[in-house]
Amino acid sequence: MNPTFPDLLQCPLTGGDLHVTDDSHIAAVGGPAYPMIDGVTCFLPETLRVQGREGDASQSIRDFYQNDGWEVGEDGLYGDSRAFLDSRPLARKFEDHCIDRIGRHFAKGGKYILDAGSGPIPHKQLLPYSDAFEKRICVDLSVQGLRAARQKLGDRGIYLQADISRLPIRDNSVDAITCNHVLYQIPEQMQKDAFLELWRVLKPGGIAVIVYWWPTPSLPHRLGRVAKLMRTLTGMRGMPQNPDAAWPELYHHPHSPDWLKAQDFPFAYKLDAMRVINDAFIRDNLSDDWRGHSFLAGVKALQRFAPGFCGRTGQMPAIIVRKE
Ligand SMILES: C[S@@+](CC[C@H](N)C(=O)[O-])C[C@H]1O[C@@H](n2cnc3c(N)ncnc32)[C@H](O)[C@@H]1O
Repeated sequence: MNPTFPDLLQCPLTGGDLHVTDDSHIAAVGGPAYPMIDGVTCFLPETLRVQGREGDASQSIRDFYQNDGWEVGEDGLYGDSRAFLDSRPLARKFEDHCIDRIGRHFAKGGKYILDAGSGPIPHKQLLPYSDAFEKRICVDLSVQGLRAARQKLGDRGIYLQADISRLPIRDNSVDAITCNHVLYQIPEQMQKDAFLELWRVLKPGGIAVIVYWWPTPSLPHRLGRVAKLMRTLTGMRGMPQNPDAAWPELYHHPHSPDWLKAQDFPFAYKLDAMRVINDAFIRDNLSDDWRGHSFLAGVKALQRFAPGFCGRTGQMPAIIVRKE
């Protein structure tokens, strides 16, 4: 019996090689059998596969992404995008630009790129991140998200329902990691373990790009003043918030830059900027015309020429970790 991806996968309990045991399971000698359903291998304990654990801080995350979050509505949008994103072209173009810019970190390529908390790979600009790799390993708690990712990537992907804090992946086995907007959704006291887990599976010479969220960044506040000035001078207005919009209450605990610095991690990191302002900022302040576009052109230039500063003081840093 040949092991399944022996250079990559391991039983999270025994550390042993995984073998296909019948049409629908893989297992290690002496370890439990993990079901394969619709091309997704489920490493979560049965009780956590669909539901979560009662009292788990991130239960709201499991509920949302197993149900509405990754369901496409009549408007063609995922529940997640409908809830959190400004759907105007101005905002979407800015997001596309920012996601594309981060993609340069993956140009070197390799065998495996891990997409930790991939969901359905919800933005098309995220897909080219794996172009220079043989396989993209999509890991998520949500089977819905993984099934949708499989429709996009097919055989170029490996789909694992697992918790980032306990990956069924060998030490030093992936060439690169993309982890976007996930770690601050993990219960606050477990986030350090999740960082360490990503570090564990990264190959020497590899790179991890972890998009995080700062709780009280100073730069959006300053940019808000510039937007206010433009409002006075040019009459620029944002878009009124839809009073009927149902914002799901999702667990969200971003730690501060000081918290990150204070951890005794076995690695150093640098900061790049994913985006210095979020969609709520764009919706509340910018009009979808020359005024909003000029404002965002300035923001893009700032991110390009001062990535470290923007990563430290903006809303969404990209934490860049290299394993030497
Ligand atoms: C905000 S979405 C981000 C999706 C995608 N990475 C992106 O950039 O749009 C967060 C995803 O992380 C997943 N997630 C949250 N906590 C996780 C955990 N502990 N282990 C694996 N996936 C997790 C959720 O199910 C959801 O699909």
